[in-house]
Amino acid sequence: MTRILITYFSSTGNTKALAEAVAEGVQSVEGVECVMKSVPQTTNDDWLAADGIIVGSPTYFGQMAARVKQMFDTTAKIYGQLEGKVGAAFTTSGGAGCGHETTNMSIITAMLVAGMVVQGTTQGPHFGPFAVGAPDEKALRDAREMGIRVATLCKRLAVSGQPSAVSNP
Ligand SMILES: Cc1cc2nc3c(=O)[nH]c(=O)nc-3n(C[C@H](O)[C@H](O)[C@H](O)COP(=O)(O)O)c2cc1C
Repeated sequence: MTRILITYFSSTGNTKALAEAVAEGVQSVEGVECVMKSVPQTTNDDWLAADGIIVGSPTYFGQMAARVKQMFDTTAKIYGQLEGKVGAAFTTSGGAGCGHETTNMSIITAMLVAGMVVQGTTQGPHFGPFAVGAPDEKALRDAREMGIRVATLCKRLAVSGQPSAVSNP
């Protein structure tokens, strides 16, 4: 079975609410198991066990929160083993145009360095769902659709149980 990890950091609940909508999308795809954990609960073994990893962070100074970056830094111990896994990002911010795209890109940048596969979209926020403050209906819909997109891509790549779908050149 394809497994997707949603790992999020949330201090006041906005990012957690968006994470729950992403999970709804993932769970709606047949044959996909969804594991949701907060960043402090997430271990390298959780990353290794997943075919897709969706990371959510509040926008802090236009980028992922330090606690989320720390999680990425911890994956240095398993560097190379995330190659070919699917990745995606989402965020909540305090204001519109106040750093949500750069925050999602900061997460995506780390994923690309880890050799992960990131799919953009023409049908909504290109770099990943976002909300300004508590998620509204549109943000929740975007988040659900992203969950479906990631789950569907994981199934298409059929990476389940494989250490790597894509080898280094
Ligand atoms: C340290 C800190 C830095 C922040 N930096 C930004 C920022 O650069 N841009 C922005 O729009 N909001 C910023 N915010 C607001 C948060 O991104 C926003 O409140 C977010 O929804 C909080 O998510 P949470 O409820 O999941 O903790 C910042 C908040 C904190 C505490």
